[in-house]
Amino acid sequence: MSNTKNFYDPEVYDARAQGVPGDVEFFLGLAKDAQAAGHPVLELATGTGRVAIPIARAGVRVVGLDASKEMLAQAREKSSDLDNVRWVEGDMKAFELPEKFGLVFIPFRSFQHLLIVKDQIACLECIHRHLVPGGRLAIDIFNPDLVIMGQWLGAKRGGLQKRRDDYVSPKTEKLVKAWETRDYHQANQEVESTFIDEELNDDGVVVSKVYRGLRLRYAFRYEMEHLLARTGFEIEDLFGDCFGAPFGDTSPEMVFVARKPA
Ligand SMILES: C[S@@+](CC[C@H](N)C(=O)[O-])C[C@H]1O[C@@H](n2cnc3c(N)ncnc32)[C@H](O)[C@@H]1O
Repeated sequence: MSNTKNFYDPEVYDARAQGVPGDVEFFLGLAKDAQAAGHPVLELATGTGRVAIPIARAGVRVVGLDASKEMLAQAREKSSDLDNVRWVEGDMKAFELPEKFGLVFIPFRSFQHLLIVKDQIACLECIHRHLVPGGRLAIDIFNPDLVIMGQWLGAKRGGLQKRRDDYVSPKTEKLVKAWETRDYHQANQEVESTFIDEELNDDGVVVSKVYRGLRLRYAFRYEMEHLLARTGFEIEDLFGDCFGAPFGDTSPEMVFVARKPA
């Protein structure tokens, strides 16, 4: 039996997604600055609250916005004991909330779900409108790795590859073998992936296959800097990871911290 599913399944996500090393502490630090200035914080593409919930548990007022009802339902369930977090179903490129924030943040490369410049700009403009003067924006995206991307253009383009992260299904407790295919479309800087999860029975026979598609837009450093300048932000820092390392040639991430001018 095989079927095609949305990329994000809340149960599988919570069982598998580790996030970027150090990211919860990194965004918590920025959230505490906003709280100290008396402002709530907003996480866009919040998912199941992996980052937003620890921030709320630290006493910060948080709003988490996501496009997926299912992911938000899980976030709500995990935070039912908290009264300082609110979950909103919405699109990060077109939202209207009643309050202004001291920090808006987008962890775990979710900004890369926006596939065209018009949508990236619409998102950044929406954020700008929702920040208090002097408020901050923090975004973590991949630092495009040309060596890896070259493989998705060349030898590995579209071919079935074994992933290293086989896992035990949180639903059936059976072993799931993980595969993927990836294609890098250079003209629009987009990586198009299909993730294939094969569930095995106790005899090692494949009993189901789930296909999940994912498209991510890769942005380069100066492209992001132009986007931020174009939408009225001043860049405060660019880190190469979520531990605050300076950005460099081999940095895994690009973590931008920018300000709406006071
Ligand atoms: C990688 S998950 C990140 C979840 C959470 N921020 C974390 O770090 O664990 C990406 C999330 O982006 C959401 N998403 C994708 N496109 C979106 C959009 N246009 N507006 C709001 N959420 C979106 C998905 O529903 C998914 O929950």
